[in-house]
Amino acid sequence: MNRREFLLVGGASLAALHSGRAFSQSHRGALLSEAAREDLPLLFGTDYYPDQTPEHLWEEDAAAMAAAGVTNVRIAEFAWALMEPEEGHFDFRWLERAIGILHAHGIAIILGTPSAAPPNWLSQKYPEVLEVNDQGVTLSPGSRRFTCPTNKTYRHLSLTIATQMAQKFASTPGVIGWQIDNEFTLGSSGRCYCKYCRAGFQEWLRAKYKSLDTINQLWGTVFWSNTYTDFDQIPVPLPSGAPPNPGLALDYDRYQSYANVSFMEEQLAMLRKQCPSHFITTNNVGLVDTIDMRDLYRNLDFAAYDNYPGFFAMSAGDGTDIPSQALVPTIALGHDLMRCARDGKPFLVMEEQSGKAGQPVFSPQPEPGQIRLWSYQAVAHGAMGINYFRWDTTNFGAEEYWHGMLRHDRSHSPAFDEMLQTFRELKSLGPDALHAPCEASIALCYDLASSWALSIQPGQPKLRYLNEIISWYGAVRATQAGVDLVPATQDLSRYKVLCAPVMYVVSAQQAETIRRFVEGGGVFIAGFRLGVKDEHSRIVDTPLPGLLRDVMGVELLDDQPLYSEKQGVSFTGPLTGPAAPCHIWADILEPQKTEVLATYTEGAYAGKAAITANSFGKGKAVYLGAHLEPADLGRVLGIFLASAGIKPIAAVKTGVEVTRRSAGGRTWTYLLNHSSAPQTVSIEGVYRDALKRSPISGAIGLEPYGVRVLMQG
Ligand code: GAL
Ligand code: ZN
Repeated sequence: MNRREFLLVGGASLAALHSGRAFSQSHRGALLSEAAREDLPLLFGTDYYPDQTPEHLWEEDAAAMAAAGVTNVRIAEFAWALMEPEEGHFDFRWLERAIGILHAHGIAIILGTPSAAPPNWLSQKYPEVLEVNDQGVTLSPGSRRFTCPTNKTYRHLSLTIATQMAQKFASTPGVIGWQIDNEFTLGSSGRCYCKYCRAGFQEWLRAKYKSLDTINQLWGTVFWSNTYTDFDQIPVPLPSGAPPNPGLALDYDRYQSYANVSFMEEQLAMLRKQCPSHFITTNNVGLVDTIDMRDLYRNLDFAAYDNYPGFFAMSAGDGTDIPSQALVPTIALGHDLMRCARDGKPFLVMEEQSGKAGQPVFSPQPEPGQIRLWSYQAVAHGAMGINYFRWDTTNFGAEEYWHGMLRHDRSHSPAFDEMLQTFRELKSLGPDALHAPCEASIALCYDLASSWALSIQPGQPKLRYLNEIISWYGAVRATQAGVDLVPATQDLSRYKVLCAPVMYVVSAQQAETIRRFVEGGGVFIAGFRLGVKDEHSRIVDTPLPGLLRDVMGVELLDDQPLYSEKQGVSFTGPLTGPAAPCHIWADILEPQKTEVLATYTEGAYAGKAAITANSFGKGKAVYLGAHLEPADLGRVLGIFLASAGIKPIAAVKTGVEVTRRSAGGRTWTYLLNHSSAPQTVSIEGVYRDALKRSPISGAIGLEPYGVRVLMQG
């Protein structure tokens, strides 16, 4: 059966599910065979907690879900204490009954393994499993995600309960897949600094570097008499009177990511063996730098993502974190990161905000239309399915204020009908649309080594990797061209442009990849702080930008953190336009045979180059030495992107997003209005409105928070 035929069968089987027919063994076989991992059923569901719901309500819930068009639930990821009330005593009877009821209503089940929330008997008996935070404080049990990823007891007990679940439910009708754990590293400090992690780190270093001499040399431990004569002496970066060795600190971030991934992989290997016909994934939020998403998802079937735009809105509200104009691109960036964690493969939204979101404080109710819009935004950026978090709203526990599809009194939430409409519409788009790759002609380098090294030594306290990524991503997405997030270690020839804000760490492999990309005709646009460090966090001993000096055609005269001093940039040639302020950082460039497109206006470096463009091979390398405000950055990047041949799919106003997915000669163009005002989008070509199933062209109207899906081919 080829992919297309499979999808048709898959679609038909799911349709049978919705009409209330049981999800029979034969459907499971057809949908979830080894080959089917690539071609999943439609997944439009909800996160459900039978463990937190009186049993007499399960039937009513399942019937209501079926009536709502829910295809699947994700359950049990926090139910360890119920499944193993005492060490070694397992009780899955309640879960079997819950699964039986859901399955009888045609609802498929994704099971969560429960390691994110260990029961109290475990932390009481084995207090050594508790995480130690970055201040050396041992976390208290009583919440979740308070455990150490290295500790063998915790890992063993986690694997044991997961194995018991897998053995119990490997061939239970209705069960289709697994979520391992829940949001690795998303606890208060994100990393553990306990004695087990220290020993694990030492072991990891031994495997990586083989000898202490190498470590001493690469980290420069001669500084402050840090020379190690025994692996056991190597510490973790806990407070120690002064900042840690940057090479050690960078490797520790790598180790913690590795420890979590290897913990996940233990459960994965077991599940592959026990449940060969089930898909396996784990959920996360994209914009965290405590775990490398590419490593995490490498051996899983697809990436899964938890999307809570309300959180961003809350932090934007008090101006402390993400500025509000960055909100839409920030949400989009999260989606693109998850898509790119598996090199473009469609991902599942395992949890999507369905109402007011929060714990002690909570976000406003999304505006009418906004939940549907956010769901479409996920699909527009590569999602293949959506689960709304959560079905009901609990009356107890730390997330009493996390509003689900039902209210506290179990009546419908304000957006209930909107979510049902979204299910109906997205299902009607069909599997071809939901599995189609996203088009992207621009790559944005997103590399955790730079993120980690820069948070260890920001240079200027306001310089944050993620903020730079967000403002560059926002500026680039303003052209409406598709963007892939790449580590710049693999061939980039399918892209026209590679952007690299604060690529502070450049490895030899990355330098080579970038060199080949530009030689072959690509446009490379780098920001300040390019190539300062190698992958061991040593500063290069050549003039900056180090390994990329010849590609960029510049050497740095100086690099300057900016505080209260005034600096500005004046533009010339193709960039001609109003002068712009420069805050936070200025790399002062000395052009070789390079075109100068902007110069600094103030102080000792007035008149020196701030932006240059170099022809190299068949391509071009642009150095943006000055930190620019988002609007100026947008103008400047827009000019470079246009000259690199990046054409907008449609010209739109701020607040409107356009993306395109395509497969088999067919395209789906998503128009998303994130604003509270109606908008019009002019787009070339004749399309079919995929939702209304009618022809459409020219000036296309979008309601406030409205969505259109245009089909061609
Ligand atoms: C997610 C998490 C859920 C729930 C939700 C609301 O990040 O996976 O378990 O906590 O947020 O806080
Ligand atoms: Zn630990």
